Amino acid sequence: MNQTTQQILSIKDAIESRHSIRKFVQKPISKSDIDRIFELVRLTPSAWNLQPWKFHVVTDKELKNKLQEAAYGQQQVTSAPAVILVTSDMENILANLSDTVHPGITPERKQEEVANLSSIFGGMSVEERGQWGLTQTNITLGFLLITIQGFGYSSVPMLGFDQEKVKEILGLPEHIKFAAMVPFGLPDTEGYPHHRFELDKIVTYY
Ligand SMILES: Cc1cc2nc3c(=O)[nH]c(=O)nc-3n(C[C@H](O)[C@H](O)[C@H](O)COP(=O)(O)O)c2cc1C
Repeated sequence: MNQTTQQILSIKDAIESRHSIRKFVQKPISKSDIDRIFELVRLTPSAWNLQPWKFHVVTDKELKNKLQEAAYGQQQVTSAPAVILVTSDMENILANLSDTVHPGITPERKQEEVANLSSIFGGMSVEERGQWGLTQTNITLGFLLITIQGFGYSSVPMLGFDQEKVKEILGLPEHIKFAAMVPFGLPDTEGYPHHRFELDKIVTYY
């Protein structure tokens, strides 16, 4: 089967039904389903449209075993048929700024934009740009979790792992930042009921 037969959820149903799932059905996810998810996720907005995110999809059993070890033994890593590492790479963006500028603008405006961005980000340290890129990449993490759910799969976002070890396992450069490790697949268990603050604690009207 190349494509999911599951119903695509409305945005409301996807958000309401999403819970962190840590035990998955032992069935591979088709490449076409993964591509369909990323085709939506790549539409995430970002400041100056810089799109600093990269997604590393791990399905190889041996690599998943190593990732689980780096994640202090958390079982969901090997239970999931696929694990996505969501990373941010601002050094790559800075080296290719013209790719980020909208193709519809004139060459002169394009040059100006690239010079402007180059001056802004060139004036920051690698660490500062890394942190800035991470704020943008966290937006795509939200899109990813909802899109996975929308296509009938489940996931759990994770930051409980040794980032240096994961860089080593996947051969990623030192400067990249992690938004999360996201094991995903068909759920083999129910998540916990939502526990969230009421609106009066988190929303202020002026
Ligand atoms: C950035 C981030 C990191 C997280 N890290 C872990 C983790 O390492 N292990 C884990 O089991 N859950 C992890 N979680 C899941 C949270 O515990 C979970 O999202 C939260 O308790 C709310 O539950 P829900 O996702 O079922 O709604 C993480 C969630 C986020 C957003």
